[in-house]
Amino acid sequence: MQDVFPYPVARIGLIGGGQLGRMLVKAAKRLGCTCVVLDPVSGSPAAQVAGHQIVGEHSDPAMLRELAGSCDLVTFELENIETEALRRLEVEGHRIYPRPGLLATIQDKYLQKCFLHEAGIPTPEFVNLPMPDAVAFDAFGYPLVQKARRGSYDGRGVVVMRDANAFSRRLVDATYLERFVEAEKELAVLVARNVSGECRSYRTVEMRFHPQDNVLDFLVAPANIPTEIANRAEALALRTVEAMDGVGVFGIEMFLTHDGELLVNEVAPRTHNSGHHTIEACVTDQFEQHLRAVLGLPLGDTRQLQPATMVNLLGASGYQGRPLISGLAAVLAIPGVCVHIYGKAVTKPGRKMGHVTVIDDTLEAACAKARQVKNSIRILGEQKL
Ligand SMILES: Nc1ncnc2c1ncn2[C@@H]1O[C@H](COP(=O)(O)OP(=O)(O)O)[C@@H](O)[C@H]1O
Ligand SMILES: [Mg+2]
Repeated sequence: MQDVFPYPVARIGLIGGGQLGRMLVKAAKRLGCTCVVLDPVSGSPAAQVAGHQIVGEHSDPAMLRELAGSCDLVTFELENIETEALRRLEVEGHRIYPRPGLLATIQDKYLQKCFLHEAGIPTPEFVNLPMPDAVAFDAFGYPLVQKARRGSYDGRGVVVMRDANAFSRRLVDATYLERFVEAEKELAVLVARNVSGECRSYRTVEMRFHPQDNVLDFLVAPANIPTEIANRAEALALRTVEAMDGVGVFGIEMFLTHDGELLVNEVAPRTHNSGHHTIEACVTDQFEQHLRAVLGLPLGDTRQLQPATMVNLLGASGYQGRPLISGLAAVLAIPGVCVHIYGKAVTKPGRKMGHVTVIDDTLEAACAKARQVKNSIRILGEQKL
């Protein structure tokens, strides 16, 4: 590769204008790239930073064509995109990473599971569910998890059923069934792979979920697990992305069972909520790493310099409308606390409005401060529900 770049180094077309996009755009600017964001919401969090937005649906073929035509490369921050239009653009010679064909496999969770199974990657047992009738559920056996094949996120589209009494809560769209895993912990590993096949993982992290709404509410990095397990998790994540021939950053979610077995839960073909701490705690953060990967640049150093925890700032229940951040000054006064507010114009209960990363010399100290943060800061709204 000739090592001379013009400015901008690359014009990146970004599908999706949410918080992941916003952090990606910040990293892009640092590297001397410019970005155009495609999102239906004018003034989206990512577009506020990029300065350029095409206001349109993520799957609108005409809008995707306009985006690809005005940029050197297209990437995305969400997976719910119509892949046919992307495939056509790819055939015409536009660079799109991760590749649309892989996105098509991953965005259908059942096809994703089939792919993983065929590649020899351990997953919970699963079956397709052409008809969501009681006979099929009984035949598979409880406890089970019913999952929407498409369009699910943050636990929407996932129903855990301990026994047949829960059958009434079933989903009616296209779904499949999975064995319920009694997990010791939920882990995640971020992996970056560039167009030349160079592949690196970050250290394994531990995700602690909100008991009701399934949104990640506490992240511990590195995971509080034996090194041997962390090494196996990282090797498994690397193997998964290699098997997919993936280009970009991927978040690999896993279950650690009580017998020390690792099962892949799902793969996100994008930067991931479990990697936000990399901004402050690692040499190269996940967003810059994604750009390096898709641009064919050398991957950055994934070393973590300090223990970190991360909490999501979710819209408090009972409020909507323009956000009011209560307790901001109190948390900013705590050393090692880094606040990220996503610039969303309106809050609603459970909506991801920001996050806070805490770094400290020990995980225990970081966790104690994260608990303090959770108790101090709240995202309220101008209207009471
Ligand atoms: N097979 C399973 N066994 C036990 N818990 C599960 C299983 N699948 C999902 N879950 C729980 O539901 C959460 C959300 O499921 P996931 O498939 O990751 O969907 P999402 O796309 O919403 O993240 C997981 O993080 C986990 O806590
Ligand atoms: Mg998940």
